Amino acid sequence: MVTLTINGKKVKAKENTPLLEIARKMSIAIPTLCYHPDLSPHGSCRLCTVEISKNGISRMVTACNYPAQEGIKVETHSKRVLQARRVLVELLLARCPNVPFLKKFAKELGVKASPFTTKASENDCILCGLCVRTCHELVGANAIGFSMRGTQKKIGTPFEIDSERCVACGACEYICPTGAIKMEVDRLRKIRTSETGTLRHCRYMRMGLIDFMICSNGFECWRCDVDQMMEDRFGTHPIFALKPGKEKEPFPMNGFTFHPELFYSEGHVWGKPSDQWIRLGLDEMASLLTLKADGLHLPPVGSPIQEKGVLAEISASGRKAKILSPLSGVVSAINHEVVENPSLVWRDPYRRGWLILLTPDQPEEISNLLSGLKAREWYSKQTLNLFNHLVRWAPNPSPKGDLLENSSLREILRGKWEKLEKILFKH
Ligand code: FES
Repeated sequence: MVTLTINGKKVKAKENTPLLEIARKMSIAIPTLCYHPDLSPHGSCRLCTVEISKNGISRMVTACNYPAQEGIKVETHSKRVLQARRVLVELLLARCPNVPFLKKFAKELGVKASPFTTKASENDCILCGLCVRTCHELVGANAIGFSMRGTQKKIGTPFEIDSERCVACGACEYICPTGAIKMEVDRLRKIRTSETGTLRHCRYMRMGLIDFMICSNGFECWRCDVDQMMEDRFGTHPIFALKPGKEKEPFPMNGFTFHPELFYSEGHVWGKPSDQWIRLGLDEMASLLTLKADGLHLPPVGSPIQEKGVLAEISASGRKAKILSPLSGVVSAINHEVVENPSLVWRDPYRRGWLILLTPDQPEEISNLLSGLKAREWYSKQTLNLFNHLVRWAPNPSPKGDLLENSSLREILRGKWEKLEKILFKH
C-alpha cells in the first residue's frame, strides 16, 4: 500500500492502481473519453489529465493510466488542469465539430467554440481506440486496428480489406462514443450473401457466447428474439457483460502454446498482420522441434519471396531445414536480433524470435491462412499427430512432459530429422 494525497486529502491505495480509479472511489469526477473499465487504458484522449507533484516538481499526467505512488500529491481540478482540458476539448471540437458528446463536454468545461481551424475529420472518429481495444480484448477477433501515423492516423481493417475475422458482433459500433463506426451493416450484408445453410451462424455463436445457433432471420438482428433477450438480460452489449475475449489469451495445447490472435500456416509459420506488412515467425511446435537452432539465414531486405518459396533456412547441430513462406511478397525488414542469436527462435518464437516483416503482394490472401477456430483445430490435430509419431519413435522414455528436458528424446528426434522436416514444413 502507498499513501498519496488527492486534492488535499490523504488516501491509502494499492501501489500502481491508476489514479482515476482512486479518484472515482473518492467520488471525484474526472472526465474521460478513451477510458472504459473493461478495457486496458490507452491514454490517448488526455481528457483525464491531472497535475501531480513530488519533491517540488509538478507535471501533468493522464489519470487513467498513471500508477499510484508513495508520497505524490494529485490535483484533479487545478487551474492548470482545467486549462489543459479546455484546450484538449477545443482541439477535439475542431476535428469533429458536430459530435453531440463533445459538445456536451465543451459546455461542461465552459468552451463555447473552438479557436482552432483544421480539416474536419471525414467520419467523426476521434481515434480514442475504444473500438480497437474492444475488438481485440473482449471480442478477441482483432478485426480492426490503427493504421498510418500522425495526421493520417485512422482506424480500419488490416490493409483496408474486409476482414474475415470480423464476426459482425457490432461491439465496435456500440462502444464508439461519436457514432463514427458503421461497420456492422456492411459486414452483415457480406455475411448474408456469403454464408448460407448451416453456415448461417448467429452472431452470438460467432462471438463465442452461444454454442450453436443458426440464424433464421437473414442476419437482421434487430428483429431477432435471441438478440432482444440478450439485450434485455444484460442491459448492455453482451460482449461487455460476458467478455469472452478475456479468455482468448495464449493457452497450452497438447504441450505447446497456441495464440488465438495469430494466423497460422500449414508450414508452421505464424503471421500477425499490421497496416503495412505481416510479421512472420515459426510457431512454437516447429521451433521447439528444431531443437535449439544454432544457425539462421534470412533473405535480404527488399528481396521478393514467392508463396511456398524459402522464407528462412534454419540449422541445428549441423542439420538444416527450409521454412516456406505462406504468402508471396517483398521482405520489408528482418529480425537482426534473431540472426545474431538463432536460439531465440526456439526460446521465444512468438515475440523476440520473429523472423521477417513481409509486405504481401496480395494482402487479401492473408485470409487463406488459418485463423480462429480453424487454426485451433488444425494446431490441435498437428500436435496430436506429432505426439503419435513421438510415441512410435520413442516409446521409452515417454515423450510426455517437457520435450526439451528429455535428452534421449532429443537424440531420437535428431535421428528423425528428415521425417520431422516433412511433417512440419510440408516439403
Ligand atoms: Fe485518460 Fe483518455 S481517459 S487519456
